[in-house]
Amino acid sequence: MISPSPSHPITLPTADAAAVLGRDAQVIAGVEKLRFFPLAVDSGEGSYLVEPGGRRLLDLSASWTAAGLGYGNPEIARAIADAAASPAGVSGLSAISTDAVALAERLLDLTRMPSGSRVYLGNAGTDANEAALQACRRATGRPRVIAFIGGYHGGMGLARAVSQVLNATAPADPHVTYLPYPDPVRPRTGDATETLTQDLSALERNLDIGDVACIIMEPIQSDGGLIIPVDGFLRGVRDAATRHSVPLIVDEVKVGLGRTGAMQAYAHEGIGPDIVTYGKSLGAGLPLSAAVGPASILDCGTASTLLTSAANPICARAGLTMLNILDREDLSSHAADVGAQLTGELAQGVAALGLEAVVGDVRGRGLTIGIDIVDAGDLGRRAPYRARKAAYRAWQLGAVVFYVGGNVLEVTPPLTLSEREAHEGASILLQAIAEADTVTDEEIAPFAGW
Ligand SMILES: Cc1ncc(COP(=O)(O)O)c(C=O)c1O
Repeated sequence: MISPSPSHPITLPTADAAAVLGRDAQVIAGVEKLRFFPLAVDSGEGSYLVEPGGRRLLDLSASWTAAGLGYGNPEIARAIADAAASPAGVSGLSAISTDAVALAERLLDLTRMPSGSRVYLGNAGTDANEAALQACRRATGRPRVIAFIGGYHGGMGLARAVSQVLNATAPADPHVTYLPYPDPVRPRTGDATETLTQDLSALERNLDIGDVACIIMEPIQSDGGLIIPVDGFLRGVRDAATRHSVPLIVDEVKVGLGRTGAMQAYAHEGIGPDIVTYGKSLGAGLPLSAAVGPASILDCGTASTLLTSAANPICARAGLTMLNILDREDLSSHAADVGAQLTGELAQGVAALGLEAVVGDVRGRGLTIGIDIVDAGDLGRRAPYRARKAAYRAWQLGAVVFYVGGNVLEVTPPLTLSEREAHEGASILLQAIAEADTVTDEEIAPFAGW
């Protein structure tokens, strides 16, 4: 393998960062830790996170996509400060604010849902999916939820139970069924078209049973390994759901709102869901999520989620401002352009640096990009240990990137990423992959990641 000459010198975190990490180990609960390297952050600016002591890191994760606009956007900061200075209460449970209503109207507009649709406003992707899933069960009177192998929809409750990546051996809920999600890069049968046909037949057979409350699907599986399904899958699921009158929930929490180069990731196959869920980037840094769907489902079971901070007016103002910026700056087109540049530079760099033995595939849509790390150029030989080390090396070199599906570096920078930053990101990632072996087992041992 040819190694690039190191262009990004390693600058290890300062003593200040180490001190924060030491305190973290003493006080922050392990139940909310998913750590890939010793990252401590003091502030953020644009596409960069700044460690205590001042080291700047290009954030190629955008805080798992939650920082869609990057960090410190002045318009968002002003909107939040204004809303917080004279808040319309801080709960939407028993009083509604103008901003929350305006946000709901805006989301109905954006999704072009039929009139009579409703919006649930919540705090996180998890509760938006939970609210949608539970409402489907109540509205249909049917128990079973169909979800997909490799899917992730949330960390608690039914949203967790339908997340196959967290329930590898069996669903955590007896009425959840996981079905295959066709991966064109590693088609189960060896052929993408045949895999698609088989997977849609499996879905059809399950729907025929007649006890299905809803189907929940990611338009691109992210935590499952950045899998862009075989062309025709989203359309096939949509058609099957319609034929059986089963509501289809499309989870856009991670890749929605411009990230794939279209406002909705499901639009790449021209489909429309019955319910769509959003989270992460929607709140532009504040906790905010939404589920948008028919009143016949989302009005079912009044007061059944009961989160005090749902529809929080300050978060709603942030969300409204975020959607204004997304539109005004046409950030989905920007994501398409700069994403194509970044994917192109990565693919060219893999060839130019002779990294084909360790990079099996570079794939993406807009700024949702996966770098599939393997052994001996063989897609059948995933290399999770190398992905872990490459992510760690990238952090040493000055970038934040995490891995998903065990062996895929997931590149989801802020939608505002500039061309120069995309170039810097590609260069750091290529160097990190080439130099992954310089990271020792001892260094990564404390960082289990996924
Ligand atoms: C597709 C998808 N849905 C839902 C969630 C849950 O979102 P949150 O962690 O904000 O609850 C995630 C989080 O990673 C996600 O990737």
